[in-house]
Amino acid sequence: SLVPVILAGGKGERFWPLSRKHRPKQFLSLDGSGRSLLQATADRLLNTARGWEHLFIVTASHLEDGVLEQLPELPPQNLLVEPEGRDTAPAVAWSTLEIAKRYGESVITGFFPADHWIADQAGFEKTLEAASEVAKQAAAIVTLGIAPTHAATGYGYIEQGEKLGLFGTSSSPAYRVDRFTEKPDRETAEAFLASGRFSWNGGMFVFRADVALQELRHHAPEILLPLEKRGLEAYSTMPKKSIDYALMEKTDRACVLPVTFGWDDLGDWAAIERLLKSENPNVELARHVGLDTRGALFYATDKDDLIVTIGLEDTVIVRDGNVTLIVKKDRTQEIKDVLKSIQLRP
Ligand code: GDD
Ligand code: MG
Repeated sequence: SLVPVILAGGKGERFWPLSRKHRPKQFLSLDGSGRSLLQATADRLLNTARGWEHLFIVTASHLEDGVLEQLPELPPQNLLVEPEGRDTAPAVAWSTLEIAKRYGESVITGFFPADHWIADQAGFEKTLEAASEVAKQAAAIVTLGIAPTHAATGYGYIEQGEKLGLFGTSSSPAYRVDRFTEKPDRETAEAFLASGRFSWNGGMFVFRADVALQELRHHAPEILLPLEKRGLEAYSTMPKKSIDYALMEKTDRACVLPVTFGWDDLGDWAAIERLLKSENPNVELARHVGLDTRGALFYATDKDDLIVTIGLEDTVIVRDGNVTLIVKKDRTQEIKDVLKSIQLRP
């Protein structure tokens, strides 16, 4: 069995103005399903967790009320609240200490982002069973490897090493990780892709608590030791670092389980469009009338809003309250920079 923890403290700034400080990406329903990304993530993990009683969420304090509102079935003691977001390394380290306190150090636990789309639920659950077995038998930190389709620079890359064999009922064997490189530059990503030996890191991690704690103690003592000593009071001293840089690039106890369940990181508007095209081509994200308009994506929070365009190509238009964002499709990454340079938030 596996105790899942959902990482739900991020900002999702690339979805501004839909995402705001108190309404980050994971609270939004971006696919027209009516369930938010966080709710969909919880739904997806419920079987693996064997019910709400063993499902955990870690988030920052300003999002606490929002999470409880979104997940009324979650036992309040299963909401792990950080004083503030310090990226995923402190979140994983502190949550692992908490889970170890409640379930014992040999518990198998897993961390899951709240911003993913997964196609094959049964395949996902099977993979997690196999990942738990690898974590147990190889005393490893298990990552899920996604077959890369292009030289993306927003993911971690995993180089496959020695084959460990088959685990659980999974049809793909597990491998040792030879090298983990977080968010390489374009040139490096292209070389990785061309070599054929790399997969993308799926952003999910499964391990025995004591294995991860030992590795954190060794590779990220500046994070683990203060948390062990002073708990949440140490939070203000935490470096802002993701688990990928703080641990995964350093540990030699990582394994990878290549997966085939259909995966996407809903990281920007382009991903939403990919998803809609494949799943739900008829969903209306806004009322729109377009003349000579091609390759555009429209979203309006108020479904009465009407967006009219003439002679527009490859544009994203998002209306929320009294804010309208109009951006070229290939420049949505820069929304973050705009938010930094002009103080628009929340
Ligand atoms: N509790 C908490 N606190 N959660 C956080 C914090 C924090 O300070 N910061 C981020 N998160 C949550 C986000 O809400 C998200 O669900 C998850 O942690 C991952 O954070 P992202 O910021 O979305 O990471 P990423 O997408 O850039 O990179 C990670 O995921 C990729 C796959 O989607 C890495 O693990 C990459 O290696 C990986 O390829
Ligand atoms: Mg992400």
